[in-house]
Amino acid sequence: GSRQRLVVVSNRVPVPKDGSTKAGGLAIALEGALKESGGLWFGWSGNIVGDASDKPEVVQGGKITFAVVDLTQQDYDEYYAGFANRALWPVCHYRLDLVQLERSDTDGYFRVNRAFAASLARLLQPDDIIWIHDYHFIPLAAELRKLGFNNRIGFFLHIPWPPSDVASALPAYERLLRGLGAYDVVGFHTPLDVENFQQCLVREGIGQPMGPNEYQVDGRRIRVEPFPVGIDTQAFARTAVSGEKNALVRRTKASMGDRDLIIGVDRLDYSKGIKQRIESFSCFLKSSPAFHNRVTYIQITPKSRSDVPEYKRMQHEIAEQAGWTNGNFGEVDWTPIRYVNQTVGHAALAGLYRMSQVGLVTPLRDGMNLVAKEFVAAQPPEDPGVLILSRFAGAAHELNGALLVNPYDTEACAAAITRALQMPLAERQERWITMWERLQTNTVGAWCRQFLSCLADSAAEAEEEP
Ligand code: G6P
Repeated sequence: GSRQRLVVVSNRVPVPKDGSTKAGGLAIALEGALKESGGLWFGWSGNIVGDASDKPEVVQGGKITFAVVDLTQQDYDEYYAGFANRALWPVCHYRLDLVQLERSDTDGYFRVNRAFAASLARLLQPDDIIWIHDYHFIPLAAELRKLGFNNRIGFFLHIPWPPSDVASALPAYERLLRGLGAYDVVGFHTPLDVENFQQCLVREGIGQPMGPNEYQVDGRRIRVEPFPVGIDTQAFARTAVSGEKNALVRRTKASMGDRDLIIGVDRLDYSKGIKQRIESFSCFLKSSPAFHNRVTYIQITPKSRSDVPEYKRMQHEIAEQAGWTNGNFGEVDWTPIRYVNQTVGHAALAGLYRMSQVGLVTPLRDGMNLVAKEFVAAQPPEDPGVLILSRFAGAAHELNGALLVNPYDTEACAAAITRALQMPLAERQERWITMWERLQTNTVGAWCRQFLSCLADSAAEAEEEP
């Protein structure tokens, strides 16, 4: 047909293995869009090899073509573990104290982006619509433009974008901003991220405002808009209902007795505020002895990026904090915190959310946070649990039925836990229903359609110009 092909680029690619995909919500939504007209998904294979070829390995998965390339150890160290995760990640999460700047990492980041552009170029067609995801690939459009591609190219950042004074601590700051200027549409999760990015463009004198959410950068027009990502709400709610029968969920329920359940689920990342959360939980136990042996807090925390030194250090600190709390408050027949570094499957997680009285989602900074949305979607309407949500998560912009907290304020978080555990049913339902309705509208499918239609509109406008 005349439909243009969609090309998605992301660092991690859900290549189907043995005919099946174990895809998350984002992958499912993108797959939906890719399947409509047959599409290509391009990125890193996840492999580190001695000698990386620039020729992508192509795997057909139904209507979607997956194409992946390997990285060398040096590429991985500089581009992924270095620049992406020791410079971009901490700066974008407002953590200048954790930034590690190495000239070689910066060079490696731009070099790998150039190499990815060259590999992708082998597969591109002139009218492909290209949608590039996340902080690993900020310069990719600029590299493709250098190779002569005039395709529509959109970028979505899945993490926060900080105010210009923070962002300007990035090495190659100006080059990154100009790199973003090579896209037709740049999307962020929230209006705050958009505002921060616009401030960067204007303060650096890199972008001239051309109209609402439109800038001219180096002779090109870009649109800068918020697109809050969502989940497949109905599907997740169904998974939660059937998840009640999941073996792990049943075992957990049996092990709880009649105690209430508080749940936290995060990648083990310093942006998630897990240390502060455990401190708040300790503070709650200290101030509410009536709850001793009446609640269990399960913190499911798969390890992440453990080869990055800042992560390794933090992993020790959090383990110590959890152990200390259990030692201090635990009883012979009660472990207050069950801290686990396991990955738990989708169905079991959904079932665990559903049986929880309280969801603790208290990142110090987060682009969106889909755990918050999944927790809400999983609740039984007749007896919903309470979401305690950090005001610094992008999700707080939409989920105002949550108990919004400042995660740095230990005592306020402790008070929120007590309040959540004592909240009357009517208030829980009232709070839950507003969030549930919001999640029906702002689904991941809607997010995908809105971004792609914005990208298509930007094409229509460009064609109208003389
Ligand atoms: C965040 C990022 C993703 C990333 C994921 C897991 O959600 O926005 O781009 O894939 O973390 O991190 P990892 O470094 O393991 O890919």
